[in-house]
Amino acid sequence: MTTATDVAEGLVGQAPPSPAGPLEPGDLQGLSGPPHIPLPRLVQSLRFNQRQIEFVFRARRQLGEVFSMHGATEDAVVVTSHPDHVRSLFTASPEQAPSLTGESPLRPIVGTESVLTAVGPRHMRQRKLLLPPFHGEAIESYTQMISEATEREIDRWPIGEPMALAPRMQAITLDVIMAGIFGIEGKPGRGTPEHGLRQMIRRLVAASTQPAAQIGELLQIGRDEAVGPMKFGLNLLDKQVYAVIKARRRASDLDERRDILSLLLQARTEEGGELSDKELRDELLVLVLAGHETTANSLAWAWERLVRTPDAHDALLGAVRSGAGAEERIEATIVEAMRSRPVIPLIGRRVTVPWRLGEHGVPGGTAVTMSILLVHHREDLYPRPFDFRPERWIGRKPGTYEWIPFGGGIRRCLGAALAMAEQRVVLEAMARRLDLEADDPAPERALHRNVTMIPARGGRVVLRSRHR
Ligand code: HEM
Repeated sequence: MTTATDVAEGLVGQAPPSPAGPLEPGDLQGLSGPPHIPLPRLVQSLRFNQRQIEFVFRARRQLGEVFSMHGATEDAVVVTSHPDHVRSLFTASPEQAPSLTGESPLRPIVGTESVLTAVGPRHMRQRKLLLPPFHGEAIESYTQMISEATEREIDRWPIGEPMALAPRMQAITLDVIMAGIFGIEGKPGRGTPEHGLRQMIRRLVAASTQPAAQIGELLQIGRDEAVGPMKFGLNLLDKQVYAVIKARRRASDLDERRDILSLLLQARTEEGGELSDKELRDELLVLVLAGHETTANSLAWAWERLVRTPDAHDALLGAVRSGAGAEERIEATIVEAMRSRPVIPLIGRRVTVPWRLGEHGVPGGTAVTMSILLVHHREDLYPRPFDFRPERWIGRKPGTYEWIPFGGGIRRCLGAALAMAEQRVVLEAMARRLDLEADDPAPERALHRNVTMIPARGGRVVLRSRHR
């Protein structure tokens, strides 16, 4: 809850109310459609993909907080950034506003029936099955493992040389995913299905961040099955995933294991059925793909901001090294980093009935996206929004519809508790043990890969000294 003092301190504020929600068809009359960005489709797509930050900020400045633009496959996709509009979409029923992830570019990779890509009752069923291992308490049991993976990784970093943090963060988050999801801890022995799987995931993720991969991704738009080099890579990966599933089905200690694959192998649907190998494969791949690069880049962004904001950096190191207020400072730093650089900058729902968005109305069937980036940079919610100020969050919790890096409602990120736990452990260890500097005082540009927004140079830093 925002108080008058918070507002007076200039740390957080409130947006003026703006009516939003489903309408009866006749009620659309009298409401204008959102203004459209007056640019040819190609120019707009290029600008949106290359420079989303500049693109959406300019559109909001010129057209207001609700506007529409060309989509990859349709003429008008609406973009909004008002928390009341966000609330109306997050709290809507899945019949009235199904998630646009049903049309996600990940569909050819993870199929149409995974928790990410399914809509309606199938989605709820998969989500129910997957929720228990992602619950706060279950996540607690991973912290020791996250901490060990972090310490191992930090000990390898070179001193005095510029290095990109994103791949190094990814090494940690991949270890965490392999342990948490597949139950593969440390380095699996050569020749085992687990070793093959780990190698293959590393290779595919490395390939997917190469510029040429964008062409491969474009080939997949609108398809249900992968084509081209993506299909080839996936076939190799599938072989390893199925080998791990097969071996695990036979494991004698299955009922004692706590990893997500083992839990899913024992899970039964409401109708009493088991998940098929194909269903297991799709869910596991979603978790790997949704889970480790996002968290790694979120951490890379946090350090990209910290090494360029001496007050915030000093305050974090001071709190962690003295122990005074450390927990609160770490939390505030992560929340502010995710506000200022949300790794997924845009999410959406397709309204199936007419919808009101403030002074505008849109017909049923419209894709309505929420620009997380724009919500997080509203002057009225976050005074001086471009400043990195973790103090905004000291003694204050983020609002459900004002701070939305994990989305919301029944589609809220399933891995949010895991991602927060990982970020807390890694940020704490790095602040305690490392003295880092920016390799270049200029902030890093954002690069858009698929649905993510990542630091263009991977969050480059120089490690000056390391403590025990
Ligand atoms: C900092 C890291 C992460 C960020 C920023 C992030 C962000 C998001 C966002 C924005 C959504 C869409 C929500 C919506 O449409 O309302 C989402 C969905 C999802 N995320 Fe994450 N995520 C992160 C980490 C993870 C992790 C660690 C996992 C699992 C291991 C995970 C698994 C998922 C899944 C399965 C969904 C689909 C949920 C559904 O549709 O019901 N994510 N995430």
